Amino acid sequence: MTVSRRRFVQSIGVGGAALGAGGAGVFGAPLISARGHEALWAFQGQGQAVDPGAARRADRRMAAAPGMVRIDSNENPIGPGKKAIDAIRAHFDECNRYPIVAEDDVIATIAKLQGVAPENVMLGCGSGELLRAADNAFLSKTSAYVAGGPTFEAPGDWAKFIGAEVRSVPVDSKLGLDLDAMGAASRGAGLVYLCNPNNPTATVHTKADVMAFIEKVNKLSPETTILVDEAYFEYVDAAGYGTVIPAAIQNPRVLVLRTFSKVFGMAGLRIGYAVGRPETLAKVKQWTLGSNISQLTLVAAHAALEDTAHITAEVARNREVKAFTRKFFADGGYTMTSADANFMMVDIKRDAAAFKKLALKQGIAIGRSFPPLTNQARITFGTMPEMKKAVAVFKELLSNGNRAAGS
Ligand SMILES: Cc1ncc(COP(=O)(O)O)c(C=O)c1O
Repeated sequence: MTVSRRRFVQSIGVGGAALGAGGAGVFGAPLISARGHEALWAFQGQGQAVDPGAARRADRRMAAAPGMVRIDSNENPIGPGKKAIDAIRAHFDECNRYPIVAEDDVIATIAKLQGVAPENVMLGCGSGELLRAADNAFLSKTSAYVAGGPTFEAPGDWAKFIGAEVRSVPVDSKLGLDLDAMGAASRGAGLVYLCNPNNPTATVHTKADVMAFIEKVNKLSPETTILVDEAYFEYVDAAGYGTVIPAAIQNPRVLVLRTFSKVFGMAGLRIGYAVGRPETLAKVKQWTLGSNISQLTLVAAHAALEDTAHITAEVARNREVKAFTRKFFADGGYTMTSADANFMMVDIKRDAAAFKKLALKQGIAIGRSFPPLTNQARITFGTMPEMKKAVAVFKELLSNGNRAAGS
């Protein structure tokens, strides 16, 4: 039996409506999410597994076909820099050894870069592993999960699976996180997830606002941990934006996550990290595997961290492509979120799911729709040649009125 992605999302209420309590899931069965944007499984009946993410994976396979423009998953279109690739090539002969030294090296480099001690840093197999581990560490059937809606789904899906009440607080009229309402919803919660910039809306909050939010939650609900996900940190241009890592190393109720999957272009290599106080990280570590990152990924990450020129170039490249893409939509009279990331949301004034299907048929894979923001298309910025191809298709589809609406 197949359960469609749409039914699945509607039923767990991601995208605005508050999610109900109870880990058994709305199908009367537990729900498991391996990654937020794919691999969502439901187990029904006597051990029978059904996959409500199957349609989405089928889209992803289509997106991965040769010649497709893949601007659907906020991936970096150019990949890691040459130094990271060279590091992988240079370390093949270490594949017989467990990656202990390389792990320490990466942690030390991250610590230096962030101005923290090595004991303030832990690694994950992507930040996705750390999100799941944080859920396991801080949530329970009596400790709720709080997040914006829509936001990055993986931690909310896992919270649901482990039986925590999930409180999804709708984004505001500008598609920003409603920090006041999220703060109010945090009373008695185990974990608050604050995604800044927020995926999928590409909206940001200033450091001062996030710090005020942390203070508010600490006062209202002293036992609640606040996880600030800064996955798209390097791409942000907004004035006043900044990391809250300094708060995480002071405050045992704050954790910050980063990933190598975005600006570093290493989504396929799987590495992310958390910064926090040692006692906070210890709770998360109980739920992760020792040696969870491969030797080749570690050496690539190490080289990538030191290759600051590549990161500067990638940020500039993204900014240029973003300006080009935004101009196309602005000229057409469409409104967009601020896009302080490698993606944005555009109000395409028609059903985004239908638009996605039509674009896919023409070789352009854009993000799925995020109910209840059904007219908002999430578009990742690819390379400039890719975006030129993409906007040509968008132009045709958008000028095609009703046909583009999915008929
Ligand atoms: C906000 C956010 N956090 C975390 C992740 C997971 O990233 P990783 O590849 O590090 O598991 C993503 C992936 O898209 C994301 O958008």
